[in-house]
Amino acid sequence: MNTELDSLIKNTQTIPGWLSIKEGVFLYFLSQKTPLNGIIVEIGSYKGKSTVFLGSGIKNTNGTKLFSIDPHVGSIEKPQEYKKIDTFGEFWGNIKLFKLEKKIIPIKKTSLQAIKIFSEKIDLLFIDGSHIFKDVKNDLSHWVPKVKKGGWVIIHDATVLPGPWKASKKFLIFSPKFQNIGMIGSMIFGKYTDPENILVKFKNIFLNFFSYLYIISYVIMRRIKNWIKY
Ligand SMILES: C[S@@+](CC[C@H](N)C(=O)[O-])C[C@H]1O[C@@H](n2cnc3c(N)ncnc32)[C@H](O)[C@@H]1O
Repeated sequence: MNTELDSLIKNTQTIPGWLSIKEGVFLYFLSQKTPLNGIIVEIGSYKGKSTVFLGSGIKNTNGTKLFSIDPHVGSIEKPQEYKKIDTFGEFWGNIKLFKLEKKIIPIKKTSLQAIKIFSEKIDLLFIDGSHIFKDVKNDLSHWVPKVKKGGWVIIHDATVLPGPWKASKKFLIFSPKFQNIGMIGSMIFGKYTDPENILVKFKNIFLNFFSYLYIISYVIMRRIKNWIKY
């Protein structure tokens, strides 16, 4: 029994956010796999739920850092607070509560402002900022070139919202630069390999197509279930 993970799950339930337990646990395990002195980037941290899962995975590792990018103006998912509040205080309060201050570097900017000052190569990129297609597309086209070969890219809400879904298909699933495409909860993820060999590119496209069939059947089944329910 993993008591550290059990208490992490229990204690994060008080942090407001949209991340499910299985998504959080996946982020925790994937961040644990980050190499020594690794770099994790999170776009969209809100009040820190995903930040705490990602940060807890690297709590005892040497050198690895998590950059958390968010302008902290509230989430568009909550229109009553969007652009009317500042979530930074609550975010940083949660980071302190989990004793992660030394691991997390907050960047209080939008992802496109942050890219201008960011020079590191990334091992793990988690995207959960704006869910408008144009913005997710911008996040992917600007940030993925900073990911190391063999690094991971995860897009939240990709199986449930049209913007992240369309962007995931175009830039992850149908891209020859990615392999090991998978899905967990609302997230779609892939390993960035950017191969030079044309045959490997074809192999990636071919294998990713089967992942697409698996993911699209889940998406369709979920929509049917929702239609039946209402
Ligand atoms: C759905 S919430 C993120 C939830 C968070 N990952 C969690 O686990 O609770 C979306 C966040 O993205 C931020 N955001 C919106 N547009 C952004 C952008 N262009 N760059 C970075 N963050 C952005 C919002 O301020 C908001 O806090």
